[in-house]
Amino acid sequence: MRDDDPRCVELEAAGYRIVGESWAARLRDPDPAALKQAVLRAAGLTVRELDRSSAAAWHELETANEKDYPYTPATRRVVQPVDELAELWTTGRVFGAFDGERLVGATYISLQGETGFTSVLDGYRGRGVGQAVKAASILALYADGVRVFGTGGAALNDASLGANLALGYVIEERWRSYAPRD
Ligand SMILES: CC(C)(COP(=O)(O)OP(=O)(O)OC[C@H]1O[C@@H](n2cnc3c(N)ncnc32)[C@H](O)[C@@H]1OP(=O)(O)O)[C@@H](O)C(=O)NCCC(=O)NCCS
Repeated sequence: MRDDDPRCVELEAAGYRIVGESWAARLRDPDPAALKQAVLRAAGLTVRELDRSSAAAWHELETANEKDYPYTPATRRVVQPVDELAELWTTGRVFGAFDGERLVGATYISLQGETGFTSVLDGYRGRGVGQAVKAASILALYADGVRVFGTGGAALNDASLGANLALGYVIEERWRSYAPRD
């Protein structure tokens, strides 16, 4: 339920409790120069688009990071088998950061500009890698004419929120998951 939906008050009066909070953000008419700077922050790493030949490496990265995606009923992440992950190339594009041959960060974005998920390997977080791969994905779609970009996440994910706000995303919606009180 969106947090400005009048039914929130009714649910809470009926004894429902909030069991998760999440947000949706938009980036409108991004500044390509600022995004290029964000890509450059991944100093020492190679940031580039991935093709299907990286499906196994991407699967390995996502499997290592699965436990670190904060759980909410609206934002849980269960890593799909590698063949299903590879199917995402039919609906979107994938961008990654490599330390040498090792994939250490990646993001998936739909052809319409909606980010699906992003993850960075533990040990590489908090130094701009998440922003770099995401900025690369936005720049690529920007070149194709996309001007509005969407993303979302769990309310308690400060790193995800921080990375998106730094790129210029603005939170436009907040959502709540409710469950009946036991
Ligand atoms: C979320 C995630 C992809 C972000 O990648 P990252 O490389 O750590 O992010 P960045 O360093 O590019 O940006 C994080 C920003 O948030 C800020 N931040 C705030 N709280 C933070 C925290 N607890 N941890 C890390 N960064 C934090 C950082 O300072 C940084 O902002 P700045 O560049 O203005 O200083 C990464 O932490 C991750 O893989 N987490 C597990 C998977 C996940 O939750 N994915 C997101 C859901 S789709």
